[in-house]
Amino acid sequence: MRFAVGFTRRWHGSGNLWLIILVSKNNQQKILITGATGLVGTHLLYACDPENVVGTYYTVKPAVDNYSYYYLDLQYPNSIHTLISEIEPTHIIHCAAKSSLDWCEKNKYENWRINAEAPILFAQICAQNHIRYLFISSDMVFDGSDGFYSETDATNPLSLYGKAKLAAESGIQKINPHAVIARIALVYGLPLAPDRGSSFLTWILSRIHKNQTVPLFKDQFRTPISVNELVSLLFELLFSDYCGIVHVGGPERLNRLQFGKYVCQAFELGEKHLIESQLCEIEQIPARPRDLSLTIDKLNSIVETKQLPCLKNLEYWAAVSNRVA
Ligand SMILES: NC(=O)c1ccc[n+]([C@@H]2O[C@H](COP(=O)([O-])OP(=O)(O)OC[C@H]3O[C@@H](n4cnc5c(N)ncnc54)[C@H](OP(=O)(O)O)[C@@H]3O)[C@@H](O)[C@H]2O)c1
Repeated sequence: MRFAVGFTRRWHGSGNLWLIILVSKNNQQKILITGATGLVGTHLLYACDPENVVGTYYTVKPAVDNYSYYYLDLQYPNSIHTLISEIEPTHIIHCAAKSSLDWCEKNKYENWRINAEAPILFAQICAQNHIRYLFISSDMVFDGSDGFYSETDATNPLSLYGKAKLAAESGIQKINPHAVIARIALVYGLPLAPDRGSSFLTWILSRIHKNQTVPLFKDQFRTPISVNELVSLLFELLFSDYCGIVHVGGPERLNRLQFGKYVCQAFELGEKHLIESQLCEIEQIPARPRDLSLTIDKLNSIVETKQLPCLKNLEYWAAVSNRVA
């Protein structure tokens, strides 16, 4: 991992997980992580020394854990202004979002305020105050008809969530050309604390543990990324001098069924709960993109973090969950 002047790293054995701890050498730099109660946000937060980071929550204030949390409601611009003027961060990773496609379709005004307008306001304040800004976007800006998307491929979101993320991207680029826009792929991993986010992996595991069937599409493709590697990559991008859009996906294009088979293999669960299904046979509103695989050549030209194959990462998560159990 490459670091900006002023930061170093140390490895920290915290309970059951090894974490990278980013330490500011001179304590003059402060990272603000929005959405620090979600899956990705918690992993980002816990990778930092508590002295150098502040997280935000929205629904429930997290239990005491050495970290500082501020309330943030992305629907209200004043909430964003107050947060930044109180904390005076040097770096912001804007992770908070509403990412349920169905919720965004049903709540179109809230979706727009949260997923489009708020990230642009962050970008504007960051540009005015020389704060390094990294916005987390999504592979959902594509329609999924082609796959292997690069940063220069045409976008065409199918959902209001994807449309809001795309509007945020273009607003940010106009107002803050120094920002990083990380379009991330499907994230998997385990949460670092109870009620701190969920993923496709936790959904599969919970259905199997409840003895329920797990329907998995054979014709829907993503480039899934493990949350621990995502964190490493996002910090490298934050501390690099890269500006603009970059795809942050895993190294393999997998369909949902293959991912489920890897989960069963890594967690030694057997495949009897898995049921093969087809996206093309199910009508959903909004339509789910078929192939959102991302190419990561640009990412690999910027960063040093090397990603493991999906099965190896799942074996890592299986080892983590065995230690927790
Ligand atoms: N997970 C994926 O597979 C994936 C894929 C592509 C892109 N992304 C993007 O990656 C980012 C992180 O995803 P995630 O899976 O970690 O999300 P998540 O687990 O759903 O967490 C969302 C976070 O946003 C906060 N939040 C929600 N509504 C808010 C509001 N109105 N005001 C302020 N904060 C609010 C939540 O706070 P509370 O918990 O306190 O309510 C939570 O901390 C998001 O931008 C998402 O769009 C995720």
